[in-house]
Amino acid sequence: MTDAALEQRIRDGLGRVEDLLREAASSDHPFIGQTANHLVDAGGKRFRPLLTLLAAEFGDFAAPGVVPAAAVVELTHLATLYHDDVMDEAPLRRGVPTANARWDNSIAILTGDFLFARASQILADLGPEAVRLQAETFERLVAGQINECIGPKDGQAPIDHYLSVLVDKTGSLIATSARFGALLSGAPGPVVDTLTRFGEVFGVAFQLSDDVLDIASDSDQSGKTPGTDLREGVPTLPTLYALASTDRESARLRELLSAPITDDALVREVLADLRVHPSIDQARQTVARYADEACELLESLPDNAAKETLLALCEIVGSRTV
Ligand code: IPE
Ligand code: IPE
Ligand code: MG
Ligand code: MG
Repeated sequence: MTDAALEQRIRDGLGRVEDLLREAASSDHPFIGQTANHLVDAGGKRFRPLLTLLAAEFGDFAAPGVVPAAAVVELTHLATLYHDDVMDEAPLRRGVPTANARWDNSIAILTGDFLFARASQILADLGPEAVRLQAETFERLVAGQINECIGPKDGQAPIDHYLSVLVDKTGSLIATSARFGALLSGAPGPVVDTLTRFGEVFGVAFQLSDDVLDIASDSDQSGKTPGTDLREGVPTLPTLYALASTDRESARLRELLSAPITDDALVREVLADLRVHPSIDQARQTVARYADEACELLESLPDNAAKETLLALCEIVGSRTV
């Protein structure tokens, strides 16, 4: 951030969000406190609350609902991570064993539910409009995850299906993170809508970049195990582009990608092949396109330091996979 006053406000706000997260993850039942704090303590980028705080800069950033709403979106995100790691059988998250790996699936699912319950308690104080927005967002997120499980409809192109999954499973909550900040700070209606739309497109760019990193980065960088999606047979942008290729040299890669890959040596082989395959660059270009689109959506917003920061975030997401 280039503006020192904004940076200080955001640091203060994120500090208050941290306090609320610890409070929300604590419990009189010590074991629940331990499982709920497991991923809170492990870190993460806190990107969604950051977006809420930045969006609140377009209204009264000190309005009382802003920080609680920022905590709600992170708690919602956290809860979905507990559940997602069960579905994806992921061993590592935020650089630590997932709750399903450390305990078991039941504990991970119930801890996710516990965090949803705590998020709802905070939301209740923000009023019915906030509760409705959260409920609608969560419905979309879940529909996206279900749609990911069931695959394309008859005749639907796999990449179109995939993008429709992303906008729901990831774009929805990132859009709402921005919308909460704008709404609760009392920003003007058109600004609220622009920031919401920005969040949605930015969210797709963000998830697409995460897909590329699942293939192109190591655990040290991502805090997750590379190739988790390959093991589960979950399609991602680079694998869909590779599957759509027609050259003869990629025939073995396409065959391997057509089913979940359980063998460690094969996962390594496919990761190595994908890292140099044209599909990974094609995926990077798509990430950059969505990041540019998000950036353009910001144009109509009033100029301020938060807008500069949002523009910088688009640059980061557009190039984080390179
Ligand atoms: C991970 O989100 C799940 C996606 C939607 C890509 P983040 O990349 O924001 O995860 P944390 O919060 O930093 O761990
Ligand atoms: C994350 O999706 C979960 C939600 C968006 C609800 P992914 O399964 O694609 O993300 P990672 O790679 O595990 O973080
Ligand atoms: Mg996952
Ligand atoms: Mg998943």
